[in-house]
Amino acid sequence: MNAETTTVDQAVIAKHRAMWATGDYPKLAVELVAPLGPVLVEALGIGAGDRVLDVAAGTGNAAIRAAQAGASVTASDLCPELLQAGAASAAQRGVELQWREADAHALPFADNEFDVVMSCIGVMFAPFHQHAADELIRVCKTGGRIGVLSWTPEGHIGQLFATMKPYMPPPPPGAQPPPLWGREDHVRALFGDRVNDVTAVSRTLAVDRFADGAQFRDYFKNVYGPTIAAYRNIEGDADLVAALDADIARIGDGFFDGEDTMKWEYLLLTARKA
Ligand SMILES: C[S@@+](CC[C@H](N)C(=O)[O-])C[C@H]1O[C@@H](n2cnc3c(N)ncnc32)[C@H](O)[C@@H]1O
Repeated sequence: MNAETTTVDQAVIAKHRAMWATGDYPKLAVELVAPLGPVLVEALGIGAGDRVLDVAAGTGNAAIRAAQAGASVTASDLCPELLQAGAASAAQRGVELQWREADAHALPFADNEFDVVMSCIGVMFAPFHQHAADELIRVCKTGGRIGVLSWTPEGHIGQLFATMKPYMPPPPPGAQPPPLWGREDHVRALFGDRVNDVTAVSRTLAVDRFADGAQFRDYFKNVYGPTIAAYRNIEGDADLVAALDADIARIGDGFFDGEDTMKWEYLLLTARKA
């Protein structure tokens, strides 16, 4: 942990932990974003002999894939409920890895401990970006690989967050919006000259589960912690609920682009610790 990390407001962290435990993230991980873990593991060239840390691993989307590739893996996340769901799923599949509750701003690991440190649509949700980026770098060995896969601000989930923002309580001082991690310049600035060999590419996740924006909204309203939190913040105000309903459906409709499949844009960034 670096000196700055001690200033992270633990009340904010506790709220986030509770938010990610609401709804049914394990369902969403299986039904919508499962292809992303393998994308990140492949981009990092993870294999036997690698000691890997997955930060904000949730139910182990990337971590389980890395373990299947032969690596020795620790999946860490703020939310114990998600780790438990991931551990059960890994056990069912006969995959062995470690599960550890951890805040990305204060990782309970030694300096230079891992060959690979990665995060799949995960560390982007730790609100204090520089703290979290510092921790990713600290626990990675010199010459080790760092990989982050993050929704872009312009893509569908980035736009979902922008849409929900006016309906949510104001963010705590110093917090930054999650989709900033989807901008290459932002991540380069966070990592600075502590990394080299940076590669960054924008790609899209094809999502064919929804017929229209309203279906997307209803799914997220029931399943996705941040969306549930937005609705809870305005419950009791029927006009605001109706407005948010309309806004989320509208942005959802916009991401079909005349086709049956939605395309959700993300940034895949890899680097090596200098
Ligand atoms: C969208 S989920 C991604 C989970 C998983 N990596 C995946 O690909 O499905 C975001 C995850 O970030 C975790 N998270 C949010 N804030 C965190 C923090 N400060 N430290 C560690 N994990 C955090 C949540 O608990 C949640 O599991």
